[in-house]
Amino acid sequence: MKKMVAAGLLGALMGASLLLALDEQGLTAKMKAAGGHMGGLRKAMEANAAADVAAHAKAMAEAYEGMEGFFAARHMADAAKWSSEGLAASNELASAAQGGNSEAVHTAMGKLGATCKQCHAAHREKLADGSYKIK
Ligand code: HEC
Repeated sequence: MKKMVAAGLLGALMGASLLLALDEQGLTAKMKAAGGHMGGLRKAMEANAAADVAAHAKAMAEAYEGMEGFFAARHMADAAKWSSEGLAASNELASAAQGGNSEAVHTAMGKLGATCKQCHAAHREKLADGSYKIK
């Protein structure tokens, strides 16, 4: 019993620290997830598979979750703004897909993609080994 309580507490603490402080490794994990879901979104849109679009959009929203705080804590106001816009666009995309509104799907997809592009242009640097860092 004690062990279960301890494990529960530990889990809660770990969850809380993840929420409080997304670190740079955490950001990279989110970016890799975002990259995967972007590919998934493109394929699902080509195939007109609305349910898959909605599923990838929801997962994309999860990837954006916490990103705004990460950049705000680093005093990168433009990046924080693109993060919150990307989160909003992901949610917009999910509900457009669920509602079967393909025009709204394309609009939301455009907004979403713009946040990736703008933030990468301003704050992503490619290193010689092919990995990326924040600039
Ligand atoms: C607010 C800023 C910001 C937004 C928005 C953003 N990114 Fe990033 N992204 C970065 C930064 C900074 C890096 C480099 C640091 C890192 O990899 O953690 C990066 C790295 C990446 C990487 C490389 C990860 C690796 O290390 O292999 C991929 C893939 C990626 N982003 C995809 C996306 C996609 C797709 C979107 C939009 C759906 C997106 N990002 C939106 C800032 C952003």
